[in-house]
Amino acid sequence: MKKLNVFLLLTINCLFFAQAQNDLITNTQGRETISLNGTWYYIIDPYDTGFYNYRFKERNEDDKGAYWNEPKLESKTEWTEHDYKEPNQINVPGDWNSQDRIFAYYEGSVWYQRDFDMPEMEPNEELYLYFGAVNYEAHVYLNGKKIGMHKGGFTPFNFKIPTEILKDTANYLVVRVDNKRHSEEIPTLNTDWWNYGGITRDVKLIVTPKQFIQQYHLQLDENQDIVSGQKKKRYQIKGWLKFNETVKDAAVTLKIPELKLEKEFLVSGDSLNLAFEVKKLNLWSTHDPKLYDVNLTIGNHTLKDKIGFRKIEVDGEKIMLNGKQIFLRGISLHEEIPQDVRRAHSKKDAKQLFKWAQDLNANMVRLAHYPHNEYMPRVADSLGVLLWTEIPVYWTINFGSKEVLEKAQTQLKEMISRDRNRASVIIWSVGNETPVSETRTEFMSTLVKDAKKLDPSRLVSAALEVGYSAGVNNVDDPLGEFTDIVSLNEYLGWYTGLPDACRTAKWETKYKKPFFISETGAGAKGGFHDVKEMRFSEEYQEWYYKEQINMFKNRFPDNFAGLSPWILADFRSPRRNNPDFQEGWNRKGLIDNEGNKKLAFFVLKNYYQELKQIQEKKD
Ligand code: GCU
Repeated sequence: MKKLNVFLLLTINCLFFAQAQNDLITNTQGRETISLNGTWYYIIDPYDTGFYNYRFKERNEDDKGAYWNEPKLESKTEWTEHDYKEPNQINVPGDWNSQDRIFAYYEGSVWYQRDFDMPEMEPNEELYLYFGAVNYEAHVYLNGKKIGMHKGGFTPFNFKIPTEILKDTANYLVVRVDNKRHSEEIPTLNTDWWNYGGITRDVKLIVTPKQFIQQYHLQLDENQDIVSGQKKKRYQIKGWLKFNETVKDAAVTLKIPELKLEKEFLVSGDSLNLAFEVKKLNLWSTHDPKLYDVNLTIGNHTLKDKIGFRKIEVDGEKIMLNGKQIFLRGISLHEEIPQDVRRAHSKKDAKQLFKWAQDLNANMVRLAHYPHNEYMPRVADSLGVLLWTEIPVYWTINFGSKEVLEKAQTQLKEMISRDRNRASVIIWSVGNETPVSETRTEFMSTLVKDAKKLDPSRLVSAALEVGYSAGVNNVDDPLGEFTDIVSLNEYLGWYTGLPDACRTAKWETKYKKPFFISETGAGAKGGFHDVKEMRFSEEYQEWYYKEQINMFKNRFPDNFAGLSPWILADFRSPRRNNPDFQEGWNRKGLIDNEGNKKLAFFVLKNYYQELKQIQEKKD
């Protein structure tokens, strides 16, 4: 074979190997990790001076002016124009906007730096660097060498650290974060939420053996019948394990101690399909969120997880959980703690948001409009709250671009890979309110098919557009042909007409599928009271919810299967600039930005209480 071809082959191999070795490592909470959370140094770099030289050419690795290089002055005659020192310090995880006023509206590059010492490692062990999320683009350098780059503001990623660049102490870690918006990205330029930038979620080192289980899936076999209330004599469980590299005769043990299940496998190859029976099983549900300890051991490394086994499916026009119809009493929410005006990122934050949702008698939450941090599905698993989770294919994406589709597919894959073992996640959503066109429906239906291929065990949806003609609200978005449930956003009484327009509203749907309202809502400034006709008064929002609920009860089609009103709490948006009522906040929250519940909160709470009692009678 000609020299050139061999070279080409080796190069392609290296590229694939580099990509393969950086495939996502899932369930980091169940692995041996060292946290790199804490105080890092930063440099604000609006002109990307640290990345480009004065001719705006990308700096090379040896360039002393590159912000990924540690400034080392050999003598006082030398100069440097960057360094990482007090007082420029920032907390990780956390958006930068909420940490200092200079960052409030900042969109650009910020360089983060910290040192870390090499952890204790066995000779054949390896080290990965893992980020829960960085919004939006991350370039990662260690000891002056680039180890990787990632795009996408709401999904995790990791890079294998080449051992040859590691030092025993003071490894110089630098991350360039750029949150500028671009028309060809996901999301695109225009969103109704704050463009919080930064290393917004946990950062950790993962110590792994040379060969380890990189990803896995374990769930009830979705093809078996689960009949409501009938305990089966045995349950079929299926799934798979994917290794970080091809293994030979690797001994793998799967244990579910509470089921007295222990299985040994001798594996050769890079993956293993699993299918086995268990005699008894408490299914995970909203009123009994049963989780089982699951241990996966290869060599002397054990991966620990807590998995709930349940079945979610559509039966005609019904959503079924474990063979029983369930009405989704939902609420939408952004990943934000309004009182602190910041991105949520911790287990404590997740508990606060779910407490508010459960105060509402909700059994479901729509994580809008992007994958939230991993504490959300894990806390939802423990509480028995059902989740809709979504990639930020939002509004006017460039649907004609193959590159943009690939970015959406990457984010979809990263979202599904991370949360595929979370029982609470029942719906993957591929987008929100995308304007109907042939190109858009082709783009979006490709994502629906991708999601079903990646995970046939869950429902796939998207927030669709409602058609309106001759006084009828038509549920006829062509994307509804492809999704498992037909979800749409409607604001009858806020963006069109007044709330009493609900009394004469007509609804027709062409789809014999569950019909779900993924958004409905009205704005109110917490504490502002007036007659109900006064926009932004709490009374207006209360009136809106009363009229909407009456419409659900009296004018909706029989396939109405649930709703997730917009929205649990007020949230920051650069598009909301009414100086009396908004001041940069979207006021459709049922809870205001100080954590106070508005009048409408109690209208929805009572409606859900009624539905909960009806559901409990059926159970
Ligand atoms: C849209 C959109 C939301 C937005 C909401 C609103 O439905 O999906 O992201 O915040 O309307 O106008 O408040």
